Amino acid sequence: MAFSRVAGWESGMVFIISVLERASGRRLAGTNGALQNVVNTLIRLAVVTCLLICCKAAPAQESASGGVRGSSSSRASLSDPATEQKIEALLRKMTLEEKVGQLAQYSAGQPTGPGSGPTGFDDMLVKGEIGALYNLTSVHQINVYQRIAVEKSRLHIPLVYGLDVIHGYRTEFPIPLGLAATWDPEIVQRAARVAAREASSVGIRWAFSPMVDIARDARWGRMAEGAGEDPFLGAEMAQAFVRGYQGEHLNAPDSIAACLKHYVGYGAAEAGRDYNSVEISEHTLREFYLVPFHAGVEAGSATIMTAFNSLNGVPASANAFTIRQVLRKEWGFRGIVDSDWTSIAELIPHGIANDPAAAARRAFLAGVEMDMVSNFYHLHMAELVRSGQVPEKMLDDAVRDILRVKFALGLFEHPYVDEKLEAATMLQPESVTLSRTAAERSFVLLKNSPAGNGRPLLPLPGDSKSVALIGPLADDAAVMLGSWSAQGRPEDVVTLRAALVQKLGSESVHYAKGSEVIGGTDELLTAAVSEAQNADVTILALGENAAEMTGEAASRAHLGLPGRQEQLLEAITGTGKPVILVLFSGRPLTLPWAFEHVSSVLAAWFPGVQAGPALVRTIFGDSNPTGKLPVTWPRAVGQEPLYYNALNTGRPAGKVDLTKPPFDVASKYVSRYIDEQNSPQFPFGHGLSYTSFRYGTPQASAGKLSAASLNGGMHVANRPANGELTVSADITNTSDRAGEETAQLYIRLEGTSTAQPIRALKGFQHVKLAAGETKRVTFQIGPNAFAIWDDQNKYVVEPARVKIWISPDSVQGTETTLEITK
Ligand code: BGC
Repeated sequence: MAFSRVAGWESGMVFIISVLERASGRRLAGTNGALQNVVNTLIRLAVVTCLLICCKAAPAQESASGGVRGSSSSRASLSDPATEQKIEALLRKMTLEEKVGQLAQYSAGQPTGPGSGPTGFDDMLVKGEIGALYNLTSVHQINVYQRIAVEKSRLHIPLVYGLDVIHGYRTEFPIPLGLAATWDPEIVQRAARVAAREASSVGIRWAFSPMVDIARDARWGRMAEGAGEDPFLGAEMAQAFVRGYQGEHLNAPDSIAACLKHYVGYGAAEAGRDYNSVEISEHTLREFYLVPFHAGVEAGSATIMTAFNSLNGVPASANAFTIRQVLRKEWGFRGIVDSDWTSIAELIPHGIANDPAAAARRAFLAGVEMDMVSNFYHLHMAELVRSGQVPEKMLDDAVRDILRVKFALGLFEHPYVDEKLEAATMLQPESVTLSRTAAERSFVLLKNSPAGNGRPLLPLPGDSKSVALIGPLADDAAVMLGSWSAQGRPEDVVTLRAALVQKLGSESVHYAKGSEVIGGTDELLTAAVSEAQNADVTILALGENAAEMTGEAASRAHLGLPGRQEQLLEAITGTGKPVILVLFSGRPLTLPWAFEHVSSVLAAWFPGVQAGPALVRTIFGDSNPTGKLPVTWPRAVGQEPLYYNALNTGRPAGKVDLTKPPFDVASKYVSRYIDEQNSPQFPFGHGLSYTSFRYGTPQASAGKLSAASLNGGMHVANRPANGELTVSADITNTSDRAGEETAQLYIRLEGTSTAQPIRALKGFQHVKLAAGETKRVTFQIGPNAFAIWDDQNKYVVEPARVKIWISPDSVQGTETTLEITK
């Protein structure tokens, strides 16, 4: 767990150093500065040496993740005193209209929502009426507009250009849900770095990413764009994206500002229908939904985007509680609060403003600083300030935040881009290789049961002579790019068909489309069945159409395979020949028939430009699957929202056999369905590999902890700090091939003032094991892992009974218990 552990030591080191320095400073007050410096240096050296020795003594920690890795440098970019002086100097020169101009943001290219705001920006730019543009990808045009802003406007304030860089710019990586399935923050950070390098080479310095919405309902199409259902994993992914985009320093020319979105609660849309209303108690908001946002703010994200949805009756884009109270006051966020696309105008249909001026006023007073597309700030803000309905001081603060990000990005010094950079930056071989590795690590082997010959079908032998490749997604390059692929191009994609032919030769691969994603013909189906009948094995590539069925405005009420694909699946499986099902999707799909009848199923999400090579390497065993589900996989739509970290209820089903309808009082009056099990098809954290592992019983370093001492050790709300407890377990590779496992640490607290989840993820580690090898994994658990939001919405550790598991997913494992006393 190297990441959290090392980060823990780093922050601990800074803390210890500063305490010692303060102490030595007091003791040495009155001595000269040189002596003081020498003493401080010695203290630093001693502490560093001591900590290096301590770190070396903990080798088992070396490949894990799960703690605070906030990028202080990113955060520091937004708190530089010299910049503040420049901001004040500029602010003093600005007219009211020029200040309002900084709040305006327009789409200048391919629209990504309804309506468009004004067009013909030249004149507005000269007058200083625009702060930001987005959806432009022509570097030439980007420089043209920038030149007008910088050279022709009175105060020469540069624009900042944004784009939805979601999982790559030109080199497309797996969709964010797939990236989350890697459980590998390091690879996500590296992927975001590639995206930053590519996007910045055309002048885009702001990614509207990461989407860190907790998504518990697979009907919601935007589940594809985020890290799934868990706050801990979501926080890890949020920080990885921010670090990757923003790099060491925001003002490096290849760094881009991150944007945490959609603040907040958007993923909890009622009935999974996009843009729908949201009700979340403050407790649940703090315990789950706010966590990844907070983590992203800690990592230094320069911007945040408010959501479309109403939250407990107040639209998120006019919600003073979430923006002013939580984000600004509690978390100290210093960057830009942007609206979503026309989310200020949408306050009118929401029913909390009756005209554009009222909408502008409500959003702004709540803390939304930049107006994406609505054009309401541009039209009404100056008058709102003049009439005293909006205090000018508040406007000044918003302008400060916007200028701060522009200064931090170095745009005042370097507003233009070298137009030759683009060609040299895109699709670099190392970026493409990274994309392939990320794709391989994103695949989740859902099922690999023994087939007819008594052995699992996967991996296939490398010398397979006759493979049927069937399905509408076997050779569809565009779908591999996912729903939101910036400048990703189908011609950059290597499909499964192309890669399979390259591996086996065209004479061994028998391809048939079988059906369209939606629609198809009897002829297509018949031809596919005959190919399957003649081949030794069939690889079936089925799933969703990324652009239409996943992402924004793509909620589904039915989560099966669309079109005639289910029919195709049953017909091919009906041949009796072995079938491997590769599922491409932006969400779990409810396919009970497939999971019962097909022995090997791989969830591939939408893997990006290297879809084919990554899949072929996995199918033939050159890559051993390591992905784990970042979301619970339901059996039926009616179970949604379904998530592992739920509460127990007062009538848990316990040992009742839920495969049968209720037949007596004991089996009836429990929390259950009468026609479906409660359990998912596959639990959160599930993922098989070609290697098998055995987990030993976890052992804790203490049987009792004190709440008082844990409370004293907490520094930052909701994030693990320094360790108080270690929990270890042996993991054995019980197979004859090397493999990698993601060991997961879960906790349950009982006896607390608010009910806590039946399990909550608090850490994970990647462990590589040779055939037959055993390794001990050790987790350091800090006070924050035990802290909860109590019945007064205070963040504290309470006395509790604690259950702890180290397990391969969110349901298996043996528990160990301990107690938190007063
Ligand atoms: C989406 C955002 C996106 C924005 C700009 C909106 O429709 O909700 O996620 O960043 O458009 O394209």
